[in-house]
Amino acid sequence: MAPTVHLSCLLALLVAGLAQGIKDSLRGQDPGPQPLELKEVFRLFQMQYNRSYPNPAEYARRLDIFAQNLAKAQRLQEEDLGTAEFGVTQFSDLTEEEFVQLYGSQVAGEALGVSRKVGSEEWGESEPQTCDWRKVGTISPVRDQRNCNCCWAMAAAGNIEALWAIKFRHFVEVSVQQLLDCDRCGNGCRGGFVWDAFLTVLNNSGLASEKDYPFNGSGKTHRCLAKKYKKVAWIQDFIILQACEQSMARHLATEGPITVTINMTLLQQYQKGVIKATPTTCDPTQVDHSVLLVGFGKTKLVEGRQGKAASFGSYARPRRSMAYWILKNSWGPQWGEEGYFRLHRGSNTCGITKFPVTARVDKPKKQHQVSCPP
Ligand SMILES: *[C@@H]1O[C@H](CO)[C@@H](O)[C@H](O)[C@H]1NC(C)=O
Ligand SMILES: *[C@@H]1O[C@H](CO)[C@@H](O)[C@H](O)[C@H]1NC(C)=O
Ligand SMILES: *[C@@H]1O[C@H](CO)[C@@H](O)[C@H](O)[C@H]1NC(C)=O
Ligand SMILES: *[C@@H]1O[C@H](CO)[C@@H](O)[C@H](O)[C@H]1NC(C)=O
Repeated sequence: MAPTVHLSCLLALLVAGLAQGIKDSLRGQDPGPQPLELKEVFRLFQMQYNRSYPNPAEYARRLDIFAQNLAKAQRLQEEDLGTAEFGVTQFSDLTEEEFVQLYGSQVAGEALGVSRKVGSEEWGESEPQTCDWRKVGTISPVRDQRNCNCCWAMAAAGNIEALWAIKFRHFVEVSVQQLLDCDRCGNGCRGGFVWDAFLTVLNNSGLASEKDYPFNGSGKTHRCLAKKYKKVAWIQDFIILQACEQSMARHLATEGPITVTINMTLLQQYQKGVIKATPTTCDPTQVDHSVLLVGFGKTKLVEGRQGKAASFGSYARPRRSMAYWILKNSWGPQWGEEGYFRLHRGSNTCGITKFPVTARVDKPKKQHQVSCPP
């Protein structure tokens, strides 16, 4: 659709204008962004993401939030040390508080009766340079949480699907709705942890298919219908991996995708590229969003953002490649890089090492007794 093209052109203008406005106001002049331009970009945003507001006051409020988000995106763009681009997204009319409320789930400390698996093997010379489980048909299409705060269930579902396909060479799409309706440890559409989903699978003796037990998306959960449908995948247990990016990469390359829980603050404005944050721009100790880690790689030679300032000097900065993780989000395919995003690998970006968790899939053997974590 044409608006997309206009949007990016106008946006470039607007962002430049906003940046100039900010610089000017720092110098004590204040021309500000051109109101007409801003309104035009906002109108295109509304068209692209089908947004309408009930009254002029709400429109004015959203327009104001939109302008603030554009300014923030511009700032993130300047601060990021990777190749990430920030700008208009489907979340550009939400305040940070609303975004966190709608999509975040606070993960409480270490209150979990599951021990970390201690990896003993050293990373051998066989370390692959790249790994992308999307290339071998083990990853389901990108999901969309819509009105349901269920990243935790979607990440867990993606983990089980991928491991099932890898182990049994049979691709199944599993029911997120079952994980929500039958959840007794988390809060359904109001948030939960990845392990709540795994406990539900154990307690229900397996997972039905997405086709039989489809995702509702209205934000409501219903009566648990686990007993009604044929199960298509099972897990034996789940483990928390070592908080170390090398062993996570090794596990990913040898066993398959794992779930991670990160600080999602930079994702509200993220468009594409590799995010390389600092502990200040993305606090790695506070995580609130679970996603599926599906691969890793390295960029072709790029001039790091750090090079920007240096490039005013008389010599060119050496170009280096940047290692990254590939992550599958659950905000629909129109967000980010077709529903995916990339984080810098090797600097615990946004707390990626805090909770690497994975199920172990297997055909059913015995009934499991499960209880919620303390
Ligand atoms: C746009 O949003 C309205 C409700 O605000 C909805 O009724 C309509 O179906 C949506 N259209 C599309 C194309 O998503
Ligand atoms: C979602 O659930 C509501 C009831 O809470 C129902 O009215 C609606 O039809 C369901 N939507 C889908 C897509 O199943
Ligand atoms: C994520 O990091 C940002 C920036 O450091 C911080 O403001 C935010 O509170 C963090 N998120 C959570 C859930 O604490
Ligand atoms: C396990 O399922 C039973 C019903 O079959 C339910 O009463 C119980 O709360 C569930 N426990 C967990 C931890 O999900």
